[in-house]
Amino acid sequence: MGEAIVNAAEKFSKLIEMQMQRVEKMKAEKDFVDYNALDQIVIGIAGGDGIGPAITNEAQRILEFLLKEDVQKGKVAFKVIDGLTIENRAKVMKAIPDDVLEELKQCHVVLKGPTTTPRAGDPWPNIESANVAMRKELDLFANVRPVKVPEEGIDWTFFRENTEGAYALGSLGMHINDDIAFDFKVITTEGIERIARAAFDFAVKNGKKKVTIVTKANVVKTTDGKFLNKCYEIAKEYPGLEVDDWYIDIMTAKLIDRKRRTQFEVFVLPNLYGDILTDEAAEFQGGVGTAGSANIGKRYAMFEAIHGSAPRMVEEGRAKYADPCSVIKAGALLLAHLGYTGQAQKLEKALEICTNVEKKLVITGRDTGATGAEFANYIMETIQSMEG
Ligand code: IPM
Ligand code: MG
Repeated sequence: MGEAIVNAAEKFSKLIEMQMQRVEKMKAEKDFVDYNALDQIVIGIAGGDGIGPAITNEAQRILEFLLKEDVQKGKVAFKVIDGLTIENRAKVMKAIPDDVLEELKQCHVVLKGPTTTPRAGDPWPNIESANVAMRKELDLFANVRPVKVPEEGIDWTFFRENTEGAYALGSLGMHINDDIAFDFKVITTEGIERIARAAFDFAVKNGKKKVTIVTKANVVKTTDGKFLNKCYEIAKEYPGLEVDDWYIDIMTAKLIDRKRRTQFEVFVLPNLYGDILTDEAAEFQGGVGTAGSANIGKRYAMFEAIHGSAPRMVEEGRAKYADPCSVIKAGALLLAHLGYTGQAQKLEKALEICTNVEKKLVITGRDTGATGAEFANYIMETIQSMEG
């Protein structure tokens, strides 16, 4: 028994050291990149696995179309990164191969396609998710997920903490002995401060009145308790906002309470609760396939669709019929983040017209419907006609 405890304690002290180093890095972090001040903004396009390359390619065409002028001027450049595949990752047994990480770091923002997350029992080695690794490596601490269902009065923006909580050491838990397994949850002052400020700043800038903190602080008293208290403390810097808090269990229930749910606007929450609640929320809008997600850090930002890589579509030769709309929506988030607000709004509007109003083309995922390329053309034609 003694030896198991000593071994575990030794491993635990290494984990603490790692986290202390991470805190030092966060403390040394500079402020957000000012894209206006850059000579050139580099937009990375990382297709990922399965249908990823096909759909991100369509999104890239649309971004190039909308940013034509700045591309010509050299203010914007695109960089295609194609090594982020499960085959490459399995070969070097790394969530992100080193050369791919280097390429990602040469960009300011990245549009990412879906990447396969290995799990026990599938043909791939059980390496860490490329998503989770990228969030950590590029320190993308704010996972911003908007969900809108205008006809139901739903207009939510989730600020999910993206680098800590249950994910910080998600692949570094330990089996103490045959009977006992431990996982860890990590929360830091810096980590809470930056996600709370991101949420409150967003609320103020976007005319929102209310921010809701979600935890399970009544049970998970230390880490969730710290998250809750710190968020309230920072809220004092934003006297114009109404801030309240809910526990995650009742929060999931209130999202299906038609009267109640329309009162929520902005949410700030730890990683795992954010993971779960945003899937539930996306369901009201048509499912996770319809949701885009922004992963924002101070130096880098990454934008992605939150659906899978659909390997079966590729095996059956149907990749070209895959629906590019959610990654195109992620592209709109990317434009907005870079400050191309007008272009972002046009793109959102065109997406809405093409997928919900006019529906001249429909995607079925098979040859019974339009190809992704045809649909992307349709979106660009719609933007053009909006411009008159
Ligand atoms: C998400 C996904 C990821 C997560 C998976 C793929 C690791 O569910 O982006 O929400 O859990 O964060
Ligand atoms: Mg998820």
